[in-house]
Parts: sequence; C-alpha cells; structure tokens
Amino acid sequence: MHDFLRRLPKAELHLHIEGSLEPELMFSLAERNGIRLPYDSVEEVRAAYDFTDLQSFLDLYYQGMSVLRTAEDFHDLAMDYFRRASDEGVVHVEMHVDPQAHLARGVELPVVMEGLSLARRRAWRELGLSSALILAFLRDRPAEEAMEMLERAAPYWEMLDGVGLDSAEQGNPPEKFVAVFRFARELGIPRVAHAGEEGPPEYIRQALDLLDVCRIDHGVRCLEDPALVARLRDEQVVLTVCPLSNVRLRVVEQMADHPLPQLLEAGLRLTLNSDDPAYFGGGMLANFEACHDAFGWSRETFVALAGNALEAAFMSDERRQALL
Ligand code: ADE
Ligand code: ZN
Repeated sequence: MHDFLRRLPKAELHLHIEGSLEPELMFSLAERNGIRLPYDSVEEVRAAYDFTDLQSFLDLYYQGMSVLRTAEDFHDLAMDYFRRASDEGVVHVEMHVDPQAHLARGVELPVVMEGLSLARRRAWRELGLSSALILAFLRDRPAEEAMEMLERAAPYWEMLDGVGLDSAEQGNPPEKFVAVFRFARELGIPRVAHAGEEGPPEYIRQALDLLDVCRIDHGVRCLEDPALVARLRDEQVVLTVCPLSNVRLRVVEQMADHPLPQLLEAGLRLTLNSDDPAYFGGGMLANFEACHDAFGWSRETFVALAGNALEAAFMSDERRQALL
C-alpha cells in the first residue's frame, strides 16, 4: 500500500508554505542571515512542537518564519518543499502564503513574491510539479489591514490563483472580512477560507454565504450541524481536510477519533492535505498513510480522494486532463 500511495498522483490544496520550513533549513537560514534562534539544535526545535491548540502552534509558526528575510530564502523554502513533495508523488501544490506576517517584520511583498515565483517556475521545469498561489489574510488582524494587503498586491493580482483566510479562528468570524473578499471577487480572484477547524459550524456557513468561497479549508466541525452537512453534500463543496494537523493541534485526540470516516459516509467531497508538514509530523504521503493505518481504506477510496483534489485544483483544464 505504501508504494501505491506514493505513486498515486496527488494534488495538495491546503499547504502553508511557511509551515513547510523544516528545522534543518530554519537553522541554515538563521546562520545565513545572522539570526539567533531560541534553540540549540534541530532536536530541540522538534521537541518544542508539542501543541495544545491552534494558538500554541501559531506562536511557534510566526517565530519560525523570522529566518525568512530575502527572496533567496523564500525560494529555498519553497524548493525544499517541492522536492520533498515530488518525491512523495505530489504533482501539484497550492500554497497559502501569509504576506502580512512578513510585512510586520519588515519583509516587503516583492521579496516574498519574487522568491516564490522563481521556485514555482523551477519546480515546473525541473520536477514537472505545477503549483498555485493563495494569498492569505490573517483573520486575527484588522480587516482594514487585509484590504491594504490586497491593494498592495496589485502588481501580482494576475498571478494569484486565490485568496484565503487563516490564523487564529476563534473570535475572528468570516463576516469580519466581507469587504476584502468582495473586492477579490470583483477582481475575479477565486476565494477559499479556513473554517470549522477550531471555530463553530456557523463560520463555515458565513464563509459560504458571505465570502462566496469555492472551498472550505478544514471544515471538520460541520458534523455538529446536520443541516450544514446536508448542504455541503448537496452543493458538493470541497473540504480540504488535514488529518495529522487535526491530531497535532488537538482538534481530535488521535487518528482513530478523526471524523474523516463520518465525513466520507455523509457523501462530502473531501481531499487530504498536510497543512503545515514541518510542524505536524509529515507531508502528503504521511497523511495518506495515517488514514490507511487508522481506517483501512481501500485503494478505490484513496483514488477517489486524490481525484477530488485534481478536479478542484486551480490548474488549467489541459493540465487537469493530463493528470486525471
Ligand atoms: N496558519 C498556518 N497553519 C494554520 C492552520 N492550521 N489554521 C489556521 N491558520 C494557519
Ligand atoms: Zn491551514
């Protein structure tokens, strides 16, 4: 099964590129940029990744990205991930990026975009791996700041495949971001949003009704609201589920308790994703394998889930046809 899952062409729709920063690269970038880390070794960094909830992870995630300063750093970050993903049979990666978090540390948008663009072109040329870029707004910061970020991103609107909504969910409902998502819609940019990871089912409804998103990132808490589950099924809304992330952030206690089997049983359109692979114990293949170990799913189930991701991916129809 391991070989089958590795060979299965997989598209990853939910990845935070800053969450792919492995401790080894964190140390080498810290050295290159003369930055002191609050850790003495890679082992010490990994040991610190013992999270109690989303916020406890976000604290280390924002600290970790402090080593990213130059376009070359962003290029190396993304290439490092693309190589690993490609080795795991990933053929397409859609990455969220958090420019507000970089701007807050004095790293301007062109630095981020230049580095990521270069890596994306190289990944296509050298690995045959396609990618998409999702500019994410930090929901725990003011809505006006999100609007400023989208305005600042004007030179890059054409290369954005989507906008997204991430960071601390509780107390930061989608309704806070109606104006900036309306603006993205006017610009013709597709929209996705994290909802129902730690937040209530109501946030999933708001993301659909107020932000007009085409996918829900996570969405696992929909199961608390049967009418919402029926709607998600009827409208075949794609959920980008991240099983190992949910375990590591204690959304569920262990893989055996993960609601994926119920979500599947309910007829929802699911995809499997890694979220922040460097922090949560593995990439796409590890997530697929964890599902196999926990639920004993058949090959057909994995083929169907991988197919959902290819169908829902932001890619040209030509590329999709070549992969399906
Ligand atoms: N930013 C990076 N990873 C995230 C997650 N799992 N949820 C919300 N925001 C994030
Ligand atoms: Zn996420």
